[in-house]
Parts: sequence; structure tokens; C-alpha cells
Amino acid sequence: MNVHQLLSISPVVPVVTIRDAHQAVPVARALQDGGVRVIEVTLRTGSSLECIERIARELPSMTVLAGTVCHATQVRESLAAGAAGIVSPGLTEAIATAVDTAGAAWLPGVATASDIMRGLALGLDSFKLFPASIAGGPEALRAFAGPFPGVRFCPTGGIDRAAVARYLELGNVACVGGSWVATEKMIDAGDWEAIRANAEFVATLRAAEKCQ
Ligand code: 3PG
Repeated sequence: MNVHQLLSISPVVPVVTIRDAHQAVPVARALQDGGVRVIEVTLRTGSSLECIERIARELPSMTVLAGTVCHATQVRESLAAGAAGIVSPGLTEAIATAVDTAGAAWLPGVATASDIMRGLALGLDSFKLFPASIAGGPEALRAFAGPFPGVRFCPTGGIDRAAVARYLELGNVACVGGSWVATEKMIDAGDWEAIRANAEFVATLRAAEKCQ
């Protein structure tokens, strides 16, 4: 899977932090039942890799991404666990080398024009704008469209359900990321119905056709 394919799966990529690995498959299944076939599992808990492994093994039609990947070793661990792609809050040459060696799809975070230019120099054309609401939001994305016409973004960070449409209407936004679809509170409470309902809402948003 390349990064363009990855960005075209769903208009919203649910960013999920799971503490108990037993909750991984129910969370992913709730998303899938609601019509969302991608999940970004953040590497922020001791069970993150096991969560990726369980989802990849038990729900093969879900695309599992490893998120919050900050070190090259995490690239290798995530891919070994079954991740189909790597998402990072920023961009480093060490991670670029690791994903390149592995032939993996990578969505690095950027917040400035210089970050984007570093990514372009590495041969990349798709980025996560992070943290999107602080890094300028829709106005920044409109401004980036001028100097970087071929670049596509997945803005993430501070984008709630109500703000999604303001991002998706932009020509250089392929999809957005957000934790509101499956919050830690919903996961801790085992509220799979709330997650499924949010996924159903996501599935009604316009298809992410801009990166196909
Ligand atoms: C994160 O790093 O947690 C993601 O960017 C999600 O951000 P959000 O919780 O503001 O949606």
C-alpha cells in the first residue's frame, strides 16, 4: 500500500489509543461495522504493538496504521506487528531511511513550509499537518496550496466532528485524522455502539477521492 492509497480509504482516519489489548479488536470491529476500514493505533501504551498485531490478524479488511512513530526502531516493530503504514508527528531522516528500507508507506507530520520542503527533498508528497488547529488550520492549508500545488495533507490534531467539513472541502486535503471517532473514554467504557455510530457518520462524509 502506498501513501496515496492509504489516504483514500476514509475521509477521517480514527486515531486510537488503546491501553488493554483485549479492546483492540472490538474497537476496530466497531469502526468496520460503521463503514470505516482504517485505524491508526498510536504507540503510546505498552500494548500498542499487540493491538496492531491483533487487529491485523483478526480483521484483515481493516488497514492498521502505527501512529506516534518517533524512532526508526518503532518503524520495524510496527511493520513486524502487521502495520500497513506509518504515521509520525514529525519528519526525521532516520525514519525516512527506515521506511524507505522497508518499502513502507509513511505519513510524516509537518507544520511549516520548511518541513514540507524537507519532505519534498526526500521524495514525499503527502503529509500530516500537525497539530493542525495550532499550525494554522484551514487557512494554513489554503496558503500551502500556492507554493506546493502537488502536496496532499491529512490534517490532524484539534479537529473535532464539527470542524471536519471545513478541512475536507479544501482541494489539498485528502482526509483528516482525529481521536473523536473512538475516544479513550469510549474505549475504556467499552462503548462500541458510540464508536460504530461515529464511524457511520464518517462514512457519510464525502469520499476521499483526491488521492486516488
Ligand atoms: C494525536 O496525536 O493524538 C492526534 O493528532 C489526534 O489529535 P486529536 O485528539 O486532537 O484528534
